[in-house]
Amino acid sequence: MSLPYNQRTCYCGEVSAEHVGKSAILVGWVANRRDLGGMVFIDLRDREGTVQVKIDSDTDPQAHQIAHRLRNEFCIALRGDVVARPEKMVNTDMRTGAVEIIGREIEVLSESETPKFAVDDEIETNEEVRLKYRFLDLRRPRLQNAIRTRHRLTKVLRDYFDGEGFVEIETPFLTRSTPEGARDFLVPSRVQLGHFYALPQSPQLFKQLLMMSGFDKYMQIVRCFRDEDLRADRQPEFTQLDVEMSFVQPENIINVIEGCMVAVMREIHGIEVPRPFPRMSYAQAMADYGIDRPDTRYDLRLIDVTEIAQKTGFKVFTEAVDAGGVVRAIRLPGGAEMPRKKLDALTEELKGIGAGGLPLVKVAADGDKLIFETGVAKFFSPELTAETATAMKAEPGDVLFFSADTETNVCKYLSWLRQTIAQRRGLIPEGLWNFLWVLDFPMFEYSTEDGRHYAMHHPFTAPLDEDIPLLDDDNPGKCRAKAYDIVLNGTELGGGSIRIHRADVQEKVFQLLDIGPAEQRHKFGFLLDALKYGPPPHGGIALGLDRMVMLLAGLESLRDTIAFPKTHRAVCMLTEAPGTVATEQLDELGIRLVNPPDA
Ligand code: AMO
Ligand code: AMP
Repeated sequence: MSLPYNQRTCYCGEVSAEHVGKSAILVGWVANRRDLGGMVFIDLRDREGTVQVKIDSDTDPQAHQIAHRLRNEFCIALRGDVVARPEKMVNTDMRTGAVEIIGREIEVLSESETPKFAVDDEIETNEEVRLKYRFLDLRRPRLQNAIRTRHRLTKVLRDYFDGEGFVEIETPFLTRSTPEGARDFLVPSRVQLGHFYALPQSPQLFKQLLMMSGFDKYMQIVRCFRDEDLRADRQPEFTQLDVEMSFVQPENIINVIEGCMVAVMREIHGIEVPRPFPRMSYAQAMADYGIDRPDTRYDLRLIDVTEIAQKTGFKVFTEAVDAGGVVRAIRLPGGAEMPRKKLDALTEELKGIGAGGLPLVKVAADGDKLIFETGVAKFFSPELTAETATAMKAEPGDVLFFSADTETNVCKYLSWLRQTIAQRRGLIPEGLWNFLWVLDFPMFEYSTEDGRHYAMHHPFTAPLDEDIPLLDDDNPGKCRAKAYDIVLNGTELGGGSIRIHRADVQEKVFQLLDIGPAEQRHKFGFLLDALKYGPPPHGGIALGLDRMVMLLAGLESLRDTIAFPKTHRAVCMLTEAPGTVATEQLDELGIRLVNPPDA
């Protein structure tokens, strides 16, 4: 006797009241088994959900015998009758909770060893173990949902861009280095010994060349490779929604992407996001939030109190200002109730990221006057107290946190503090989708360590028209770029820019980045050549697809959006990549290892 498993009547998760009274053939995995002696209950799971099956030894002794020896994750086929559950047995938490299956016939299609962890969303398991048994981990509903959200998202994106007249074009993986600020993954060439391909950090230069070829509107959902230090929101291989357009200004790119995000939110979440999205200059984002990807779902803005702080005579403040730094502060409404222990712990954490400490005051009322208490209160005269309280719009019960250091450090410490406090005190409202454009980034970042400028976005980004003369100044640091980032709830979703389409400007920018004529030719000769043949003005953007899925599916880790991700040590636990290779393989490539790993 064999059940026709290829003739399933519907998915387990789809059995509903309309099937009551009918016979069903279901296939799936045993998610749970409760053996009550004469009666066995099974939760049968497939990609659409689970359904409860009841097998009674009196009516179906043969099926009961098999049910009795089933274990979790056995793969089975089942024939049964769909019945309505008695009123008080209805489980409203379950999609199939109004029905159950009376199991008549069961066939074990394959057995399972006892899994190393429960295939259950509610049970926390060590992530390395999960990743080693990823095939089991992926059976969990949360991951099934994430991976399928990803599929739906790419479909919505392709449909949207197709409708807007974009052409999807594949660009090579075996290529030359494309600088996006990370290290390259290299692939040795067997045919050209001693030569290496680089896997693309992005299709940046190819998409620019496609504009020069006249395609006008390009898009690609494309894998990118970056050898960089990994965090929860970074993977060594990840996917971009990559876009490029000809004859455009930032406005055009912003329009297309807003339309795209509105379509995504509508199709995936059924939410209408209002347009246009808010916009903010980089300078304002740094001043108000200390970060270029502000989470605008909550306030806690930074206030500059440099002038007032200078008059306090508190050494930490005055020394920072004398050294050219700034003093900024955050007001936490109701923060005065925070116990000393919590404030001390916060100070220690902040020291952990480099701060010297966390000067603070608590705001209280003395009659109709505000006073500062504890912390550095003693440095504030009644006049300075009043001045600070006004600047900060302080109220009794607040805590004011200060940071005095270089502007860069103050931004780093206070943006960390702002986010940490908001998360821990539950100040982030649920259900908000705050999209934001950050505009007018600086062209260059100066590294005091290396004594040179680096491109803030990448070296192909065009300066604002009015800032082009600054490229000839001795202070190109003031030059702003036609660059823009799209931010969602404090995560950088994507970034892009209008590109340089004049060879002379491109060469000048290369010079400023310390890329001399020989290196320009060697690395980007093909781009400089292409710029000689009527290049159209063009620009584009790339959005992190994995990050988009992470936010859309409400996940905390990028790894949960990728079927087979790498750990933070860039290892695939499942296949144990990267691995060693045979000496013959290395010989073929003309490679000898300086430090061969132990066999
Ligand atoms: P950028 O380097 O800003 O721009 O990358 C665009 C977006 O890609 C995502 N992203 C990542 N996601 C996961 N893991 C990573 N390691 C990772 N690195 C980047 C982010 C980011 O915002 N060629 C330019 C785009 C352009 O100018 O058109 C580029 O790649 O969401
Ligand atoms: P103190 O005068 O050492 O008692 O410090 C007063 C407050 O200033 C404490 O809250 C410290 O955390 C803070 N503080 C002390 N030194 C520094 C520093 N170098 N930078 C920033 N804050 C500091």
